[in-house]
Formats: sequence, structure tokens, C-alpha cells
Amino acid sequence: MAKYKIAWMPGDGIGIEVMEAARIVLDKLKLDAQYLPADIGWEFWCTEGEALPKRTMDLLRSVDCGLFGAITSKPKQEAQNDLIPELQGKGLLYRSPIVRLRQELQLYYNLRPCKAYPGNPLNYRDNIDLVIFRENAEGLYSGVEFFPVEDELREMMKKYSPALGNFDDVAGSDMAMTTRIVTIRGATRVIRKAFEYAKKHGYPTVTLVEKPNVLRETSGMMVRVAREIHKEYPEIDLWETNIDAQVMWLVKNPENYGVMVTGNLFGDIVSDLSAQLVGGLGFASSGNIGDNLAVFEPTHGSAPKHAGKYISNPNAMLLTTKMMLEWLGEIEKAKALENAIAAVILEGKVRTYDMGGDSSTIDVAEAVAERL
Ligand code: NAI
Ligand code: MG
Repeated sequence: MAKYKIAWMPGDGIGIEVMEAARIVLDKLKLDAQYLPADIGWEFWCTEGEALPKRTMDLLRSVDCGLFGAITSKPKQEAQNDLIPELQGKGLLYRSPIVRLRQELQLYYNLRPCKAYPGNPLNYRDNIDLVIFRENAEGLYSGVEFFPVEDELREMMKKYSPALGNFDDVAGSDMAMTTRIVTIRGATRVIRKAFEYAKKHGYPTVTLVEKPNVLRETSGMMVRVAREIHKEYPEIDLWETNIDAQVMWLVKNPENYGVMVTGNLFGDIVSDLSAQLVGGLGFASSGNIGDNLAVFEPTHGSAPKHAGKYISNPNAMLLTTKMMLEWLGEIEKAKALENAIAAVILEGKVRTYDMGGDSSTIDVAEAVAERL
């Protein structure tokens, strides 16, 4: 029996190609793992009406972790048109597999390291080493939305939040509402993970990015929880910043920041901005992590216009693979992989188009494997 069981989810488009690249380095590292292919993506929406079939969810509950490439998703009408005739007109609704994975498997934080590897021509600046902890299962992406907003609901809500009275002259049919939910449980677990990480990896600060002066209740709760947890980590400084100012500072002096923790929407924004500082989508790795299970994925999508061409940069996927190895406790293999990736970037000979080269996805993976 292999030491690890890993759900193997290439998905769509370039997801399939970068997963091949991941496999090349994993085989070279001789990871003692069984890779279990799992269905996810557009094909399964079209033929089964579910992009993340139940069998994949069941498999995920039985493995150590999952590795995932990317999926395609399309707007509502196109999604309906792509369904096979037997499934048309049945009122099937497309649900994002990634959001489902995060919420149903309680993968409650999204870890996004953004590090500038020397020699990468796409670095905005050197010496950037950011690690973002984004709350992944609640906040503004909780999925609690209203349209139209029924009178009954409005009257009830107005009793508790008089500010809703400012909209009395707007018809419910002209109004949409999305609710930001923060819980003590949700805030505590992600903020604690951020402090633990800072301590373990020697980062001197944790920056909590919120907007408590305006979002008084939800951001206010994040701040209270952060201050409470901070008491257990006196050696680490807690910086509290506002999201709007923080994105300016990240452009001005990204070197000043290290571990950052924030809610779901702000985390989405901060992590894309940070990824661009260190080379963009070809370098952006991530992990959706819970207590006993994690699913790792590069941040990019299926890039349909590049699908089948094997020109995409696999570094995002390879750095994602490195995160998976760390999470499994394979620290030496993770370090070796990171060093090999860094060496190939520094040497600058094998580069995909986004870095100004003409190497293929597989060329890069093989160059990395050669150094392992
Ligand atoms: P995308 O990330 O797929 O691609 C945007 C552009 O970025 C590409 O056209 C390409 O020029 C560049 N790019 C992306 N990955 C790259 C790589 N590894 N190397 C070099 N260049 C790269 O985003 P887009 O075009 O908005 O979405 C395409 C499809 O992917 C859509 O169906 C969308 O719903 C889906 N998507 C899926 C995600 C996921 O699986 N996590 C995330 C984002 C989008
Ligand atoms: Mg995003």
C-alpha cells in the first residue's frame, strides 16, 4: 500500500497539461503515493448536470488530499445550451465545483504564498515574500443572497437594522442583497492558522486586512478575534489595516509585509494583486485547507485559448505541488522541489511564453525534474 492517497483532478483545458507537468516532478521525487483519477469539470456538467459528481466528493472524503488543475465554467445561458438534450429544460443549475469543495468539505482557509523568485523577469520587485490566509467558507461568498427582496424580509430586517429604511422608496424587485457572514468559529480558525504559520516560519508580523470602521459588525468581529489570539503570540506583531489602504501599500512597499489574513472577498482581491507582483497567473499557487483534508490548485483557470497547445507556464502548478508536499509533511521533497523550480527560473534558459521564452509546459517540468 502506498503511503498517501491523492485525488487526481486535472479538470479542463490547460488544467490537464499542467497536471501532466506535476506528475513528471512527483514521479522524479518518487513520492510514495497512489494517484486516484477523479472526475471534475465542464464535461460532467454537460453530460451529468453536475460538474463535481458525488463520486468525486465521496473519493475526496477518503483521501489524504487532492490535487486539482483547473475547470471551465460558462455564463448561465451557455451552460444551459451545453447540456445534453436529455438534461435540457430540467431546471438544472450550475454550481461552482470550487466553491462547493470549499464549503462542503469545510476547507476553511485558502493559503496563497506569493514569493518573488530571483531571475523571474515578471517580478514587480525582488524581496517580495507574502503569504495570504484568506477565509474560504463564509464572508461575502457565503451564498446567502436575495433577489428580489421580499417585503416580509425587509420589514423584519428593518426592525434590527434601521439603515434599511434608507431604501424605503426602492421596490423589492429593484433591489438585490448579498449577505456577509462572519462567525467566531470562522474568524478564529483562519486567524489562528495565520499566527501559527508566522511563528513556525519566522515571520515577525501578521497583518489583519479588514474595514472595521465601515463594516462595523463583521470586520469588527475579525478584529476582536485577532486581538484575542494575538495574546497567545506575543513575539509576533499584529498589524491592523484597511483593505483600501492595504492594496495601495502592497503596490508601494510589498517588501514590508509577510503573513496577511483576511476575509473571503478581500482575500480574493489581495491574493490576485499579490500574485501579479511575483509574476502573475503562471506563478500563483494555492491550497484550500481544512482540518484533515486539503485540495491544492493553481489559481489560474482552464485558459481555453491555450488548451491543447502545451505552452502554459507550469510553475503555478509545480509550486502548488510543493505546497501539497509540505502539507503532507514531506518537507525535504518540498524543499528540493522549490529549489529546483528556483534554479530553473534563475538560470533563465527554459521559459514559457509569458516569461519571454518559447519552451513548452513539459520542457519546464523536465528541466525542473532534471535538477531533482
Ligand atoms: P484563465 O486563468 O483561464 O486565463 C486567463 C489568461 O491568463 C489566459 O488566457 C492566459 O493568457 C493567462 N494564463 C492563465 N494561466 C496561465 C499559465 N499557467 N501560463 C501562462 N499564462 C496563463 O482565466 P479566464 O480566461 O478568465 O477563464 C477561462 C476559464 O477558466 C473560464 O471558464 C473560467 O470560468 C475558468 N476559471 C477557472 C478557475 C479555476 O479552475 N480555479 C479560475 C479562473 C477561471
Ligand atoms: Mg480570484
